[in-house]
Amino acid sequence: MFYIKDNKRNLTDEKRETFSSGLAVFFATLGSAVGLGNIWKFPTLVGMNGGGAFVLVYFICILLLGIPVMISEFYIGRSTRSNPVGAFNKLKAKPFWKIIGYLGVSGALFIMFFYSAVAGWVYSYIFKAIKGDFLNISSLSIHQAGETVSSIFESTVGASISPIIWQAIALAVVGIILFAGVKNGIEKITKTLMPLLFTLIIIICIRSLTLEGARDGLSFLFKVDFSKITPSVLLSALGLAFFKLSVGMGTMITYGSYFTENNNLINTSFKVAFSDTLVSILVGMAIFPVVFTFGLEPGAGPGLLFNTIPLVFSKIPFGNVLLIAFFLLTAFAATMAMLSLVEVPVVFMAEEWDLDRKKSVIITLLIMFIVGVLTVHPSSIFGHITLFGKNFFDLFDFISSNLILPIGGFLIAIFVGHKTKKADIIKELSNNGELDNSNKINIYITILKYITPLLLIIVFLNSIGII
Ligand code: TRP
Repeated sequence: MFYIKDNKRNLTDEKRETFSSGLAVFFATLGSAVGLGNIWKFPTLVGMNGGGAFVLVYFICILLLGIPVMISEFYIGRSTRSNPVGAFNKLKAKPFWKIIGYLGVSGALFIMFFYSAVAGWVYSYIFKAIKGDFLNISSLSIHQAGETVSSIFESTVGASISPIIWQAIALAVVGIILFAGVKNGIEKITKTLMPLLFTLIIIICIRSLTLEGARDGLSFLFKVDFSKITPSVLLSALGLAFFKLSVGMGTMITYGSYFTENNNLINTSFKVAFSDTLVSILVGMAIFPVVFTFGLEPGAGPGLLFNTIPLVFSKIPFGNVLLIAFFLLTAFAATMAMLSLVEVPVVFMAEEWDLDRKKSVIITLLIMFIVGVLTVHPSSIFGHITLFGKNFFDLFDFISSNLILPIGGFLIAIFVGHKTKKADIIKELSNNGELDNSNKINIYITILKYITPLLLIIVFLNSIGII
């Protein structure tokens, strides 16, 4: 990954590359963090869980759970320079802790089952926009416009075969990138495309904030109504915090393993978490004014993004060109995030089962496709099948975001907080004493030891009704 540079620590091991600079670290990590989680899942869940209260809980989860776990994953990754399973061998941890690696592999699969489906919707919207399917919206009344976008969404994702083909295309793009070995090239492009996506989101925001529904949209997003906070809202906010930061399943262990020796791990986590959250909030500010202007339902579910974005662009000059650009950049962000997800089972198979890397890629993508097609929309073929009262889309999302990631995060917090020598943590996080950040480290260790695991347990037990 990235430019070759020997690292001081592992001269005995095979040469392991590191990122070339702090900026490369930042953008690569952000490339994994920013994706459909920010652009699609965040507004969907905020809408479904009643707005401001959910956002507040989500912020608290980022601060007290997401960031401490991210720092811990960076710590494990950089101090061992290994993949999530090998890392625990190197730390001479008891075999039990390898479970974090296994949870990570299954988490990546469960996420990809539905993530690839949504990525497929994004791809299909690029082509809808190019074909001009949304061109006539601007001439419709507000009410008709709202109905039109909703019916376009329903017919796109509810069709019997095409969503499956788009899902296959989304997975194939990931496969081609991994096969062509251009992953590094792609990751370098992140530096250009992320800021572009960011700019486009700002443009949408500006337009949205001048719509009639802006006030209602903002008050939905930011006004905290404590009565909306229920155990399941807490669990969703917590799951989203982990999902968006890509933590809880070892992805950041892998990224950390490529970091340079002089990277300030604590600062990097804060910068990544801050930027990731900023993107989400801006997406929220772009979407909810549209919802209230066009009389849509905030709790519309997974279609929310796909319904609102064409509407707001219908109100901007050259909106259709920008609409194409928006879905293209979203597809790019989703692909970057998928690369980091697919990497987890691929590296696992290659290193633990000694499989050829290309074979691992093919097997992984095939599993993702075969099980992933089950997540098609309820009105599409076999979309109506349910298990435990949920369709597969919701079930896989629940298992990964609300079970695997929080459990993984809990184990990581316990491992680093309670099973690791404090001196080792201090040494790594201060870059061998080069950084003068002992206060920050102490605060981090205290939160990680006591607050993070306790909060996780409370939310968990609360959501299954035990307390
Ligand atoms: N964070 C990404 C998003 O918001 C999704 C993602 C990529 C992820 N890698 C991950 C989530 C690892 C959990 C774990 O779209």
